[in-house]
Amino acid sequence: MHWQPNEFVLLVSPEGKRLLVKVEDKRFSTHHGEIDLSKLQETKPGEAVFTHKGVPFLTLKPTLYDFIHRLKRRTQIIYPKELGYILMRLGIGPGSRVVECGAGSGALTMTLAWWVRPNGKVFTYEREERFAKLCLENLSWAGLKPWVELKLRDIGAGFDERDVDAVFLDVREPWCYLKQAWEALRGGCVLGILVPTTNQVSEVLRGFEEVPFTDIDVLEILLRRYKPVAERLRPFDRMVAHTGYLIFARKVLGK
Ligand SMILES: C[S@@+](CC[C@H](N)C(=O)[O-])C[C@H]1O[C@@H](n2cnc3c(N)ncnc32)[C@H](O)[C@@H]1O
Repeated sequence: MHWQPNEFVLLVSPEGKRLLVKVEDKRFSTHHGEIDLSKLQETKPGEAVFTHKGVPFLTLKPTLYDFIHRLKRRTQIIYPKELGYILMRLGIGPGSRVVECGAGSGALTMTLAWWVRPNGKVFTYEREERFAKLCLENLSWAGLKPWVELKLRDIGAGFDERDVDAVFLDVREPWCYLKQAWEALRGGCVLGILVPTTNQVSEVLRGFEEVPFTDIDVLEILLRRYKPVAERLRPFDRMVAHTGYLIFARKVLGK
């Protein structure tokens, strides 16, 4: 089947530059000339489309990974290496109701929204208007807004939702909001937290002494990429050494 109107397409230039575009009635400028994006309707995924100078750009199906790497960001975001693992640990799937704070640039919001479709909901909280707007902008761009309700306020007073399937906190002082997270969660379900420093992890662990959570797990994820050359297979010289620590715990009742 050919590319359809309004579908997102990942264009890959001869040098490997990746560009995310939509199938629409528009011309798109590249360093190799212009691409008529309506012509994508005559192209199949995996085939090349040509610029007016005859340079081929491969057309590939974008995944959420490509969207996350291209969203507008004005805050630190959570990266795919943590995002995928977070989904699994929180048990997110179609129909999940999940609460998160803060929305920031919306990388986690987009990821959760993608996976709760078609009948789940993400309730995201953000106290700064500029980040709330940015998150909504990114969600609209990716077509994921229908699965998100954004609330512009501080979570100090708690969350509106009850019995949600999961809560995630990506804020500077998550230990201040463990009680609020506990109140929103369904019994036995998972709270996830991301913090960039070990002293924040210690604060969270101290916080768990006051609020009934169990099954506490602290970890970090290291990702090492390899140069894909069969004869000289070895890691790239540089890697991202640190992003953040992840903490997971489950709500228990009656402590
Ligand atoms: C690091 S950013 C979140 C990034 C986001 N998880 C992502 O993946 O793009 C942290 C956000 O939390 C918001 N925030 C911090 N404390 C908050 C609070 N108590 N209530 C609501 N929002 C809060 C900040 O304004 C900021 O936008």
